[in-house]
Amino acid sequence: MKRTQLPGFLMTVLLLTACGAPGSEPAALPDDRFLTIAHRGASAYRPEHSIPAYLLADEMGADYIELDLQMTKDGKLAVIHDSRLDRLTGTDERVKDLTLAELKSLPYGKLFNEEHPDLADSDYAGISFSGLIDVLARFGTSVNYYIELKSPDRSGKMEEAVIRDLTAYGIIGDPPMEPGPGGLPPIILQSFSEDSLMRLHEKRPDIPLIKLYSFKGNAADLHSDEIRKLQNYASGIGIPAGSTHAGFVEKIQGRGIDVHIFTVNDEDEIRKFIDMGADGIFTDRPDVAVRLSAGG
Ligand code: G3P
Ligand code: CA
Repeated sequence: MKRTQLPGFLMTVLLLTACGAPGSEPAALPDDRFLTIAHRGASAYRPEHSIPAYLLADEMGADYIELDLQMTKDGKLAVIHDSRLDRLTGTDERVKDLTLAELKSLPYGKLFNEEHPDLADSDYAGISFSGLIDVLARFGTSVNYYIELKSPDRSGKMEEAVIRDLTAYGIIGDPPMEPGPGGLPPIILQSFSEDSLMRLHEKRPDIPLIKLYSFKGNAADLHSDEIRKLQNYASGIGIPAGSTHAGFVEKIQGRGIDVHIFTVNDEDEIRKFIDMGADGIFTDRPDVAVRLSAGG
């Protein structure tokens, strides 16, 4: 078949449109919509990051299920918050020293049952860790995902792996992404690493990115230079509840950047941040946030 030759400049324009031109605007997040982000699933009630915790979060009406990712020894993405396994399994291994298959062979539901007798369920005894692809295979496009890349600068390869897995499981296709449940972006990516977020923005500018800050226990503040940098790649920021104050939320939102607050479980605190005008919260109790954000 004869191919039509495109002029060079037109080819460049088409390629930049498909792949994301340098300097692309950050992807849009919904206006005037408070997001309930189920932190590690409905983790106040079920083992964190487990399929039962994500199922419950979805049943409770969470807008997003939150996943933390660590890279394993064999370069796979595991759904786990900690880099060490002591808290969840009682062993002293590290995620980076195990293959995903080895990690998945370690049960952590039994310890959850022992430590949380009020929440224990015999079904949890066999729960072990998941790979990102296990969660994507289980939920597909039926939920929206809010995914954190932990320690992404150690390998510099997490961004590529996340995009690869999300594409393989049909969560994102070619840009721009199709909306997910509730008309929301089906995927939001978050990290404390600016470099990682920049790499993601270069690959997929259509995915909303959230820059996380800790503020080390101090009141939240960002210099105007930092805010200008954020405006180049981030749709929002994620900040700790203890550092959050109304003046800062207003200042950041006034620069076109959304504010999500972590991790808020107390009912009065959730109400306070809704009233403050936050754009969303991470919570272990998505049922409470869904109810309050609906005016209940
Ligand atoms: O991702 C931000 C939020 O999840 C709170 O942080 O430590 O639970 O990942 P962390
Ligand atoms: Ca997280």
